[in-house]
Amino acid sequence: METKQSYSVKFFSGEEIPLELHKVRIVQKLNLIPIEERLKAIVEGGFNTFLLTTKTVFLDMLTDSGTNAMSDNQVASMLRADDAYAGSQSYMRLEEAIQEVFDCKYFLPVHQGRAAENIISKVFIKPGDVVPMNYHFTTTKAHIEINGGTVLEIYTDEALKVKSSHPFKGNLDVAKLKEVIKKYGAGKVAYIRLEASTNLIGGQPFSIANMREVRKVAKKHGLMIVLDASLIGENAYFIKQRELEFKNKSIKQILHEMISLVDLTYFSSRKVSSTRGGGICTNSLEIHNKMKDLVPLFEGFYTYGGMSIREVEAMAIGLIETLDETIISQSPLFIRFMVNDLVRLGLPVVTPAGGLGVHIDAGQFLAHVPQTEYPAGALAAAFFLISGVRGMERGTISSVRDANGNDVLADIELLRLAMPRRVFTLSQVKYAIDRLHWLYKNRKLVGGLKFYEEPPVLRFFGGKLKPTSPWPAKLVAKFRADFGDSL
Ligand code: F0G
Repeated sequence: METKQSYSVKFFSGEEIPLELHKVRIVQKLNLIPIEERLKAIVEGGFNTFLLTTKTVFLDMLTDSGTNAMSDNQVASMLRADDAYAGSQSYMRLEEAIQEVFDCKYFLPVHQGRAAENIISKVFIKPGDVVPMNYHFTTTKAHIEINGGTVLEIYTDEALKVKSSHPFKGNLDVAKLKEVIKKYGAGKVAYIRLEASTNLIGGQPFSIANMREVRKVAKKHGLMIVLDASLIGENAYFIKQRELEFKNKSIKQILHEMISLVDLTYFSSRKVSSTRGGGICTNSLEIHNKMKDLVPLFEGFYTYGGMSIREVEAMAIGLIETLDETIISQSPLFIRFMVNDLVRLGLPVVTPAGGLGVHIDAGQFLAHVPQTEYPAGALAAAFFLISGVRGMERGTISSVRDANGNDVLADIELLRLAMPRRVFTLSQVKYAIDRLHWLYKNRKLVGGLKFYEEPPVLRFFGGKLKPTSPWPAKLVAKFRADFGDSL
């Protein structure tokens, strides 16, 4: 399906590996503590990987948010930061980078992605509005709902299929979009949202062909398109790999084409530029002016938007580095390597490999654990226990209960193993594959979880759970029997 993997190399043995096109110059020591200590840590953390301290974590695959490795040029740029409350030269450099990378004239800085969502939702959503989109992200949905809007997910039939070879599972279903407009009326559609490399369904991209179709419908009904560009680099890379028309185009050309098809773009810089912070950009002065006053109100002055000036500098460089294919392909190529190996070993993993991370289908992996006992949460806890690798539950625990207090069962129970850019080595990835393989062979030993402390909102962050049977001790005993003294 993919045209070529430009930054893979073939070994003499025939094996193809994603070669690291960077060298490691600053290192951070890691701890791989014994399984008995990991058991203590996960019990203390309420079987919730968010509540682990990094002292007990070996490979932190919780997220790529704020954890991508920065380049030497990014770190160097932080020293020349022009600290000024207003009119900082660092900000001017950031504006230039926005112009170059996103081809946008108007920019508003914010402290992170959800701050952009707060501003956009406050300005453009009226109570009773709907927001059709390819898929939601947790913070996006929360902001839309808090402003009285409803998220309508209009993904294609292919999107939630775990095993697929569709190159663009993140596409928005245009027929469903037309139905939504007919049903609610264009006046009730606040805007159409497109999320690049759709996070919660496995980092899956959309195509430019799909964007063009969405654009046509939006134009006909006078609707605005909002692009969440937090993972746009990876989406652009997949377009170059998988959409024939763009095979010989530069990443910059692809990004500009994407931005030309939407009205408003926002992003979390914790992902896109490997820094912190975020931003909103557009070529419409009218749209820009509607949001502008909220920046000093919620974020900070127009020229720092709640970010430290050092981050502003590093963000400018990080955005420009998004144009470098060796940088934006690094995480997709490592993900692809891991996905291919897991498929070969027979594990249930979301295919095709996407951006952000490797997504394991916990529903299939732990088919004997009922969905009401949170298979994705149980798998995340079990995987940490037997490997020290921390992933993130993206299933029923990540949603909230309905008005009657019942769990809203997730469409799909995923364990997400994020692959931050240029952070892990291939031998570390191979370790994660090996331990997952072992866990799959011993999956019947893993049981379910139940809450004993459950916050009413965003319960996945702070909630505490316990096993429904003494399965963790059994897993530890089997690990020792199979691995002896090995960590
Ligand atoms: N949009 C998308 C697609 C995201 O993935 C995120 C964050 C946000 C918006 C919010 O940005 O964290 O800077 O406020 N995703 C992180 C993750 C948290 O782990 O996937 P933020």
